[in-house]
Amino acid sequence: MLLKLLAVGDVVGEGGQDILSRRLSSLREELGAHFTVVNGENASGVGVTPAQARRMLEAGADVITLGNHTWNRIQIGDYLDKEPRILRPANYAGRVPGRGMGVYSCQGMRIAVLNLMGRLELNSNLDSPFKSADWLLNRGNYDLAVVDFHAEATSEKGAMAWYLDGRAAAVWGTHTHVPTADCQILPKGTGFVTDLGMTGPRRSVLGIKPEHSINLFLGGLPRRYEEAEGNCKLNACLFTFDTEKKKCVAVSRADIEE
Ligand SMILES: [Fe+2]
Ligand SMILES: [Fe+2]
Repeated sequence: MLLKLLAVGDVVGEGGQDILSRRLSSLREELGAHFTVVNGENASGVGVTPAQARRMLEAGADVITLGNHTWNRIQIGDYLDKEPRILRPANYAGRVPGRGMGVYSCQGMRIAVLNLMGRLELNSNLDSPFKSADWLLNRGNYDLAVVDFHAEATSEKGAMAWYLDGRAAAVWGTHTHVPTADCQILPKGTGFVTDLGMTGPRRSVLGIKPEHSINLFLGGLPRRYEEAEGNCKLNACLFTFDTEKKKCVAVSRADIEE
């Protein structure tokens, strides 16, 4: 049997949530996707509130993953403990709420979703994502494992995918908000893409107003980022798994532009 999983890049702000609400269920239907994982760390611009998380679940996300902005909206803490369908990076070293791995039923399969965060260029107190992946994959009860690796460096993301080749059915990168054109299946059957991209305003710098980003690079006073206006895009990739072989057999981009 074939099982199709749609992975959606970082949802940015109101615009990102809006296009997700309007387009995700029809995209799932069109692609025949059985399971959807959405990175929601930017639903508030930075961070996500419980109400925004609920909205993404209602839009059709089966699981929400997060990243370096997990704690920007600290009110998410209790929700992470209560709602099993939202994950934060598993390799936070501190005693933080929530969990970084969940196992979910889909088409008679147990799918483990892992959320991990890279250490290059991300100043967080993190354990090694590589050792965390080993630990979690060795202990979980599941049929297929997939990984959202939230990381800045393309090198770290590539290394993770090759490290998990044959152990995870899919590894995709998030965080940079820029989609990459390198969908591939590694030799032992892991589907991989370096970055999904983002779901949010097209005419922007990573989802925010270009002038705010320019101001920062010109040495201006830091100010609150505002989400850019105008049409949005939805960046995503579709992974197809052979459930008997427990391997990825196809991976392709599944983007929408408005
Ligand atoms: Fe991020
Ligand atoms: Fe992000």
